[in-house]
Amino acid sequence: MEKIKGFYLLMLILVLIFFQILLFNLIIKDSLRESGEVFTSFLSNLFKYDNFVVSKLDVKFNDFNLNQNFSSILKEGPNDYVQGIYYPGNTLKYVKKVYDGYLLYEIPEDLIEPQQSSNKLYLVAVNNKIIFSNRSSLLGSNLSDIKLFSVIFETKQGFKVIVGMPIVKVIIFDFLFSLPLVLLFVVFYYLIFKKYSKKHEKMITSINEVVKRLDEANQSLIENGKFECCKYDVSIPELVPLKTVLENIENNFSKIIEKQRNIAKEYKKAIDELEIVHEVLLNKDLELITALAETVELKDSVTGNHSKKVVDLALEIAKILGVNDKDEIEAIMYGAILHDIGKIGIPESILNKPSKLTPEEFEIMKKHTILGEKIIQSIPGWDLVADIIRHHHENYDGSGYPDGLSGDEISLRAQIVSIADVFTALTEDRPYRKALSIDEAIEVIRGMVGTKFSEEIFNAFLKALDRLLNGVDKG
Ligand SMILES: [Fe+2]
Ligand SMILES: [Fe+2]
Repeated sequence: MEKIKGFYLLMLILVLIFFQILLFNLIIKDSLRESGEVFTSFLSNLFKYDNFVVSKLDVKFNDFNLNQNFSSILKEGPNDYVQGIYYPGNTLKYVKKVYDGYLLYEIPEDLIEPQQSSNKLYLVAVNNKIIFSNRSSLLGSNLSDIKLFSVIFETKQGFKVIVGMPIVKVIIFDFLFSLPLVLLFVVFYYLIFKKYSKKHEKMITSINEVVKRLDEANQSLIENGKFECCKYDVSIPELVPLKTVLENIENNFSKIIEKQRNIAKEYKKAIDELEIVHEVLLNKDLELITALAETVELKDSVTGNHSKKVVDLALEIAKILGVNDKDEIEAIMYGAILHDIGKIGIPESILNKPSKLTPEEFEIMKKHTILGEKIIQSIPGWDLVADIIRHHHENYDGSGYPDGLSGDEISLRAQIVSIADVFTALTEDRPYRKALSIDEAIEVIRGMVGTKFSEEIFNAFLKALDRLLNGVDKG
């Protein structure tokens, strides 16, 4: 990331340097043009008057002063060699046609000297040959051989004037000119950008550290119920307020957690106490209800504990059948205890009759189911118990009482209590018979499968009885 940022910054600087060089070169060119114009004008003016006319030649280029013919070395217009004729040293020679011959102009090189400049190169060329230069070593060279950054003019006489700078020199000037910008870039990059990057990097590291600490604190909160995140040193001043805020959050959060923990402890204590009270009340209820059931049993001449035995067997059958709903189990328990509570309204003469009941007496006896349901119906939330009490004499084939229900019309809870009641009754003495043995009672009940009980209930009863008799799963 940092490398990419540095690359873009470098590209930007290079573009700036390019435009700076372009501008600098335009300035150089402008300066060359200005010098070139001055020099060209100066040179043209030297030929304007006849001050530099050194001789008059006839039409055949004869010089009568020197008594010499120059037709082989001179020509009309600008001449392209440098050796002087009338002046020693190098000269610029120009032959101008007049009506009866030619005028020979000769300008010594020394006269042009003041125009020289240390950095700029002044050249005068004719036919691609340099005939004047402020660098004497270039005289006679071909103009095309010299690589220059230059401007070109021409005098009225036809001399080509070139003012320029060697390209190498221009490149050196460009470099020196752009050096401050390069230095500026280096300073900017290392002192500011790098410094900023380091700071930024440090800040990212710190923020990652904060996130890590918070995550650890969160895990600790989930696993141990403790929230500790923010007691660590911060080296970046900008992050100090964040640290302070996090510390405050940690402190407040810890206080809240402590408070919640205390409240939870108090709640737990209260719930434990309530559960104990509930258990005590439940036992008291059970004792009262059992006592009530036993009172009725006394009236029925049934030896005590009939109800308790029915409860144990019914609950075991329910367990075998997979009944685990709390309300159902509770209903089976209370229903088993109170199944014959309605006998309280049946005359003792019928209840304790040692011989078989007459049909009329049996009709009265049947009413104990309805009477029992009426007594229990007055207790709110005991609908399931009332159902057991009303239907504990219903038969699987519909031949039972009081409603003649059959099959699944009879609730499972009523079927469970019914079979437990019948077995318990068969194994107890009655005014009209002696108690049957367990095996005899089982055989009697087996004979009732399909009429009084379903196969499923009978099988569950057998398993439950086996468990109770063999002491398995007493709990
Ligand atoms: Fe009964
Ligand atoms: Fe009973």
